Amino acid sequence: MSVGIIGGGVIGLSIAFELLERGVEDITVYDPDPSAGAGQVAAGMLAPTAESNYGEEALQALMLESMGRWASFAGRVEARTGHDLAYRAEGTLLVALTGDDQAEIDRLVGYYRRAGTPIEPLTGRQLREREPLLSPRVRGGAFAPGDHQVDPRRLLGALRSLPLRFAPHKIDELSTLREDVIIIATGAGSASLTGLPVRPVKGQLLRLRGPEPLLTHVIRGVASGRHVYLVPRADGELVIGATEEERGADTTVTAGGVLDLLRPAADLVPGVAELALAETLAGLRPGTPDNAPVLGRLDGDRVLVATGHHRNGVLLAPVTGEVIADLVTRGTTSVDVTPFGAGRFT
Ligand code: GLY
Repeated sequence: MSVGIIGGGVIGLSIAFELLERGVEDITVYDPDPSAGAGQVAAGMLAPTAESNYGEEALQALMLESMGRWASFAGRVEARTGHDLAYRAEGTLLVALTGDDQAEIDRLVGYYRRAGTPIEPLTGRQLREREPLLSPRVRGGAFAPGDHQVDPRRLLGALRSLPLRFAPHKIDELSTLREDVIIIATGAGSASLTGLPVRPVKGQLLRLRGPEPLLTHVIRGVASGRHVYLVPRADGELVIGATEEERGADTTVTAGGVLDLLRPAADLVPGVAELALAETLAGLRPGTPDNAPVLGRLDGDRVLVATGHHRNGVLLAPVTGEVIADLVTRGTTSVDVTPFGAGRFT
């Protein structure tokens, strides 16, 4: 069987990986600039708790399905490629600066509990016992043990090393492709090929660097109503993200975007101000009207789609790879993807 995958980002390449795992070897990845999309900018939070929102129960179920696959997915990618993905399972701390921020986190903790997601409320002192460099002004928060992290650039590097045929072409017309099966995984640019309501949602992000890590856990913080996350890497990199802006395909880094990230980050972890500002960047998340991805058949059995992963592309990569590879090789999947069909928007 020959398979053409349009889009060489985290999603397209995770599907390619799962196809290789199932013995499909004739795979061409069409992308003028593989790995240059949202995955290159992403922080790598694997956060089925902290990234879940009221009213998105079906999406959260899929996030939890994928989280349950992450450790094994990372192990299989590492075994096949010899790359280390820096998958880390310390868990995520939710952190509130003021009383109002604390009230917001308390409401979220109630929601996570009702959803059956493991969550442990912590006082400010308990938070500082786990992360001594948190500000003494931090009021309290919670621990989400099931929210992990991975380095998306390492993931992309590993997936790029797979034995795939890379064709540096932009595909504007599916009729130009000859493969038995076509998979569209073009992220924020998916609307034109699929007709689906996928739009770019801009996210600005900072990469800071110090001689050693300031933090052990991923921090998901609220500081005077401003939301921010901090993702520490073992080599001293600290990723701070991210804005969420409806500005079309604009990837300009703005002074206001940097301020909106640095201010709450330094309020929660003052030592951030001492780090070198190594990189400022902006990426485009593929958003859909219900914030959930589109997974499955688009047009008969030959054309499938995997897009619209919005804030959760890295987290959802394992389940997406499995679903699409199973549909291609077996015609069916054991994951309930009925809420994520392309038809829900027509
Ligand atoms: N998942 C984090 C973000 O999209 O910014």
